[in-house]
Amino acid sequence: MERALNAPERQDGARHTIHLDDNLSVLRTLDDASVDLIYIDPPFNTRKRQALTRIKTERSARGNRTGFGGRRYRTTSLGTASFEDRRDDFLDFLEPRLREAHRILAEHGSLYFHIDYREVHYCKILLDEIFGRACFLNEIIWSYDFGGRSKRRWAPKHDNILLYVKHPRRYVFDPSEVDRIPYLAPGLVGPEKAKRGKLPTDSWWSTIVPTAGSERTGYPTQKPLQILRRIVLASSKPGDLVADFFAGSGTTGAACLESGRRFLLVDDNPEALRVMATRFAGRDDISWVGFDMIGTR
Ligand SMILES: C[S@@+](CC[C@H](N)C(=O)[O-])C[C@H]1O[C@@H](n2cnc3c(N)ncnc32)[C@H](O)[C@@H]1O
Repeated sequence: MERALNAPERQDGARHTIHLDDNLSVLRTLDDASVDLIYIDPPFNTRKRQALTRIKTERSARGNRTGFGGRRYRTTSLGTASFEDRRDDFLDFLEPRLREAHRILAEHGSLYFHIDYREVHYCKILLDEIFGRACFLNEIIWSYDFGGRSKRRWAPKHDNILLYVKHPRRYVFDPSEVDRIPYLAPGLVGPEKAKRGKLPTDSWWSTIVPTAGSERTGYPTQKPLQILRRIVLASSKPGDLVADFFAGSGTTGAACLESGRRFLLVDDNPEALRVMATRFAGRDDISWVGFDMIGTR
C-alpha cells in the first residue's frame, strides 16, 4: 500500500489528505509524534444499521402531504446513506487503533474520543491503560434535545467525549479561542460580563445538525460543526495537523478549513468519501487517496 505521507511531506502541494481505507492500515504508515490533534467518533456499537434518507419537499397541488395553512407538498427521496454499527468485538477492534493514535500524537497533542453512554465506561478503562490515568483531562458531556422521550426511563439525550493528552503538562489548550456561552443569570454579573458571555465548561449544550439546515450533508451520525470548532480551536494552533480516522461526512475537515489547520481524514465507506467530495467540492488543496473523484463532481 502507498505510504500515507503526512500532509507537510507531500510533494503534490496538497495541504490536506483524505483516504478511503481501513484506518488501521493508514495509521500504521504514519510517523511517530507527527499529528497535533486527533478527534474520532467511531461507530457507537448501537447494534443497528445507521441510515439516513435525505428528502426534498416542494409545494405541489397534487402533493402527498398537507402542511401549514392546508398547503399541499410533495416529498421526494434523494437517496439513503448508511453504515453497519454492530461489532461484538468492539474493544478488540478499537484497541490497536487507539494504540496507534497514542503513537502518532505529538508530545503536546490531544485525543478527543466521542462515544455514547452504552460503551463509554469500557472505553475509558481501555484509554486509561493506553494513555495513563494522569493523561485523562476531561469527560465532556454533549447534551442535545431531539426526538421522542421514553416513558419507561430517562430519555438518553447526551454523548460523551473523553479527552486525553499525550503529556500531562505539555499539551495545547486555549479555551479563550472558543465561542463563549450566555450566563444563566446575566442580571447578576453586570452588563459588560453578560455581553461577553462565559467560557464553556465540560457540559456542552448544542443542537444536533438540523434536518433542514444548510450544514446537513445527508450522512447518518453527522456531528455539528460547532462541536468540532470548539475542539479544534481550543486544542490546536493554526497550521497544525488534525487527524480524524472515522471521518464520516468530514466535519473535522470542515472545522479545520475554517480555522487554518491541516487535516488527515480516513473512512472505509465509499459513501462517506462521496459525501466529503461534495462537501469539499472546488478545493484543490486536498489529496484523495484510494478514491476516484471522477463521477462525484
Ligand atoms: C459515527 S461515524 C462518524 C461521523 C462523523 N464524525 C461526522 O461528523 O460525519 C463513524 C464512521 O466510521 C467509519 N468507519 C468504521 N470503521 C472504520 C474503519 N475500520 N476504518 C475507517 N473508517 C471506519 C464508518 O464508515 C463511519 O463513517
